Order: sequence, then structure tokens, then C-alpha cells
Amino acid sequence: MTNSIRVNGQQIAPGEGELSMNLLDYLRESLDLTGAKNGCGIGVCGACTVLIDGKAVRACRQTVASVLGRDIVTIEGLSAPDEPLHPVQQAFVDRGAIQCGFCTPGMVLTAVAFLARTPQPTRPEIRRALNANLCRCTGYQQIVDAIEQAAKNLPLAKK
Ligand code: FES
Ligand code: FES
Repeated sequence: MTNSIRVNGQQIAPGEGELSMNLLDYLRESLDLTGAKNGCGIGVCGACTVLIDGKAVRACRQTVASVLGRDIVTIEGLSAPDEPLHPVQQAFVDRGAIQCGFCTPGMVLTAVAFLARTPQPTRPEIRRALNANLCRCTGYQQIVDAIEQAAKNLPLAKK
């Protein structure tokens, strides 16, 4: 079994003592990738969502050992600093779907995974996809607008 994970395109071998950490703490504390947030720590809020092999997964509910050999993308890896924003990120900016920003990385990555499997969603489908991601600020309307816009733009842009 491999003893490394791929994080934002980079192969990383966690130390022996890090294998029992939860993935969220490992990303934030060991790798200094602080985009994923700790909102609840018990799998309820979605603020810690990352992509694992393209699926939206709650990092607070995984151990590092359980994701060895997997491909992880955090919000920091969605678009390179010298590249345009990913279309979902751009749509969140365009639609004013960010207030405090605490939920935003999880929302964006949840949307990326959702649009990959549902490229032309209806608004009710978008709302259902966000059911388990909590936002205390926006009332969700602008977030749904943003994902709807991203769905229109994605075929023209990178996935
Ligand atoms: S911090 Fe992981 S779901 Fe809330
Ligand atoms: S923008 Fe503040 S929690 Fe969603």
C-alpha cells in the first residue's frame, strides 16, 4: 500500500505520527492549507469539504491513513495563483455569493463535484446538492445563482 497522498498535484508522504490525524487538521496544520475550515468537526456543516478522487468529502471525518494513495484537491489547488479563477470560483465572485467566506471553500468544491456529475442542473437540484453545506450569511440565493451561472460557463471553460 502506498504511503503517500497526492495533494493539489504534489505527492506527499505523511509522517508516521500524522497518519492518525484527521485530514482536516493535517491539511491545515501540517501542510498549511487553511482554505478548508473547521466549522463543526463532526461532519455536519460542510466547511471542511475537499475533493478526494473528484468526490466532495468532509475532511474532518477522514483520517490521513484512510486517504493514502488518493488524490486530494483543496480550494488552494482549484486554480493556480497565476491562472484565472476556476469558473465556479469566478461565478461566486460575479454573483456576490460570498460574505464572511467561511463556508465558501466547501461550497465551491461541493459545486465542482456536483457539476461534474450534473452538468445542467435545475435550481431545485442545486439546492438539494447544497443541502448539507451550511451558510450563516447569504441566505443561499446568491450561491444557487452562482452555481447556475457556473453550469452555463463550464462547458466553455476548463472543468
Ligand atoms: S468541519 Fe467538517 S463538516 Fe463541519
Ligand atoms: S458566507 Fe458566511 S457562512 Fe457562508
